[in-house]
Amino acid sequence: MRKIEQHKKNWETLGEVDPLWAVLSDNSKRFNNWDLDDFIKTGELEVGNVLNQLKILVPELNREEMLDFGCGVGRLARYFLKYFQKYNGTDISENMIKKAREINSAYNTEFFVNYADLKIFPDNKFDFIYSGIVLQHLPNKEFIKKYILEFKRILKAQGVLVFQVPSKIPWTYRFQPVRRLYNFLKFLGFSEKFLYQKIGLYPIKMSFIPESDMRKFLRDSGFEVLAIKEDTYCGPRVQSRTYYCRK
Ligand SMILES: C[S@@+](CC[C@H](N)C(=O)[O-])C[C@H]1O[C@@H](n2cnc3c(N)ncnc32)[C@H](O)[C@@H]1O
Repeated sequence: MRKIEQHKKNWETLGEVDPLWAVLSDNSKRFNNWDLDDFIKTGELEVGNVLNQLKILVPELNREEMLDFGCGVGRLARYFLKYFQKYNGTDISENMIKKAREINSAYNTEFFVNYADLKIFPDNKFDFIYSGIVLQHLPNKEFIKKYILEFKRILKAQGVLVFQVPSKIPWTYRFQPVRRLYNFLKFLGFSEKFLYQKIGLYPIKMSFIPESDMRKFLRDSGFEVLAIKEDTYCGPRVQSRTYYCRK
């Protein structure tokens, strides 16, 4: 099976068995223990921080249409709508998108399912693209870079991209035994649902790109890098960065 097909399948399973935990993996909330209101509320601070930076770095930014790449269940939609007129969310998981549509039906939102690229969107469509806690889960670094090039294509001229990606994962954390055991048992024929619900195993992958590599890649791709901020999206053990760039 192609890497991207397996990757999509993993997120379809997670989107079915425990979508909110798959988005915010707090151990105490596992097995559908997130309260939906508490879960949504977590988005307020995250979006607030991004909007504060945008107001400083690009106060002139056009605020019509934005895209949230890897939007999950649309946790951030209502907060981004305080600033942008229309929120579009896209995700590889149909199960996540189904839930996103239910949760956000009262808001000016539109949700899409994408695959290995963003061909579903025309060139020069969005004023702003955001992606948090998504690129780190892609099958490899080439996929991360491929999507960033797609972001550039679908941003309007002078449009702004903000995304997060880890810059360093400690060696002790890189082995990811839970994911390896999950893949091994799946190979032996255990079903994805059994592995999650009965044994508590899951296939979430973590990748990183060093800040210097990412900075070079962004410049080589024609982005203007406005700021690079340290962030805490991945907890204390993983170093992570949020990149603010203009097309
Ligand atoms: C940890 S969740 C974060 C969801 C959302 N960004 C949030 O913060 O609430 C990661 C999401 O990325 C999505 N995802 C993973 N790979 C993707 C891809 N190649 N294209 C679009 N979405 C993807 C998953 O389905 C999942 O919904």
